[in-house]
Amino acid sequence: MGPSPQESAREEMMAVLKANGSASDYEKALTKFVAAGGSSDDSLAKVGASVYGLSLAPPEPPAKKGKAPPAAIVPFDFMKQFMKDTLVAYGVPEAEAETSAEVLIEADRRGIDSHGIGRLKPIYCDRMDQGILFPHKPIDVVRESPTSALVDGNLGLGLYVGPYCMKLAIEKAKKHGVGFVVAQNSTHYGIAGYYATMASDAGCVGLTGTNARPSIAPTFGTEPMLGTNPLCFGIPTKDGFPFCIDCATSVNQRGKIEKYSRDGKPTPKGAVIDSAGVERTDTDGILRDMQLGKCALTPVGGAGDDMGGYKGYGWATTVELLCTAFQSGPFGEAVCGIDRATGAKKPMPLGHFFLAIDIAPLCPLDTFERNSTKLLDALRGSRKSPLAGGRIWTAGELEHDARVARHAQGGLSVPYPLQKNMTDLRDKIPALKAKYAKLPFE
Ligand SMILES: NC(=O)c1ccc[n+]([C@@H]2O[C@H](COP(=O)([O-])OP(=O)(O)OC[C@H]3O[C@@H](n4cnc5c(N)ncnc54)[C@H](O)[C@@H]3O)[C@@H](O)[C@H]2O)c1
Repeated sequence: MGPSPQESAREEMMAVLKANGSASDYEKALTKFVAAGGSSDDSLAKVGASVYGLSLAPPEPPAKKGKAPPAAIVPFDFMKQFMKDTLVAYGVPEAEAETSAEVLIEADRRGIDSHGIGRLKPIYCDRMDQGILFPHKPIDVVRESPTSALVDGNLGLGLYVGPYCMKLAIEKAKKHGVGFVVAQNSTHYGIAGYYATMASDAGCVGLTGTNARPSIAPTFGTEPMLGTNPLCFGIPTKDGFPFCIDCATSVNQRGKIEKYSRDGKPTPKGAVIDSAGVERTDTDGILRDMQLGKCALTPVGGAGDDMGGYKGYGWATTVELLCTAFQSGPFGEAVCGIDRATGAKKPMPLGHFFLAIDIAPLCPLDTFERNSTKLLDALRGSRKSPLAGGRIWTAGELEHDARVARHAQGGLSVPYPLQKNMTDLRDKIPALKAKYAKLPFE
């Protein structure tokens, strides 16, 4: 059996990109792809559209010609329920769907737009559709000691595997001072900060990390080898929110480069390196070449060693080691999600780690929190650069500010492409169609 019309059109798109072909050739292939049922969320479609400046807007005309419909404020409770109902409709059991929706909506509350409703369709629903992520698999505790555990997620949603593991780490910490849990065969677990904050909310110091599909090249290398591998600490304070440093170990994530493209900006030098060793700044060319495996992200500190890129490289490697070495787990090409020979999607069995350190056995929690805030206050109150905005933040503060601002505005602002994702899911899934005849922006 030959390739389907959709697959042929996709191959055509790839061929145009590889050959640096014309925008009109690409547009023709893209039109065929969409007509054959290809999704505008397809990564290749997105990259091509970005490279050639084409619109991936759905065929229905927007409300006013030439102008996308405006973003709409959607209350958090509504959005969480919609995400939960979607997951339940996919076969995720009620309790796991509740947990998963809570991890997703927490990203939206914190202003981490890339990891909330923005991820529901492309990262979770589409992958369940593709059969590389499973709506429900049992979580197995493979090995356990009083202070540690190895947990198997069996390729179920990382969004419920992660909370299970951090809860277990906290329970162990409360009994024995520390708890360390490693997950194997998990999948994308969302924002690392969710898990670190579970620990800090429980009076512990929390530490977590996950590996991911390969994107970062080692210092002095050019091949994408390491995931963007966030390394995240959560530490209780008296500020009303924890210190929470929650970020990737790469300078940029791919999403940020897509944003440079939308804004028509070059990519900062040092954030991306190509296979010839050139530090690239041509944002649209970078997006194309990343798709073709010819560009890699650089670790925190950037390309080479002038700005300490080897430090970020070391942290990204540390995360990859902690996520894989305890469980003899896969990394790099083995978690890239694509069978290079056939182009077929394949599962990405990821590893995570979770550490909780109970504070009380070492220091009264109240004293610890006062000490934390004393230091953070000193940082925030220190001399400001006259050339910057006149304020110093500490990690976790911007997310707290976003939460306050979003609550004040009545929820999260949902741009048109995400509204479209929601209506697509609703129109496709009968249970959602019955419950959500009208979404808030319709
Ligand atoms: N699951 C995965 O595979 C995966 C991979 C990579 C990233 N992520 C998630 O993506 C999210 C975003 O990651 P990112 O690398 O784009 O983060 P980012 O570059 O936006 O940095 C965010 C962190 O930096 C802090 N911060 C930002 N500006 C600051 C300032 N001026 N002063 C002090 N602190 C400041 C924030 O409080 C936050 O802790 C995170 O939640 C991360 O966990 C997930």
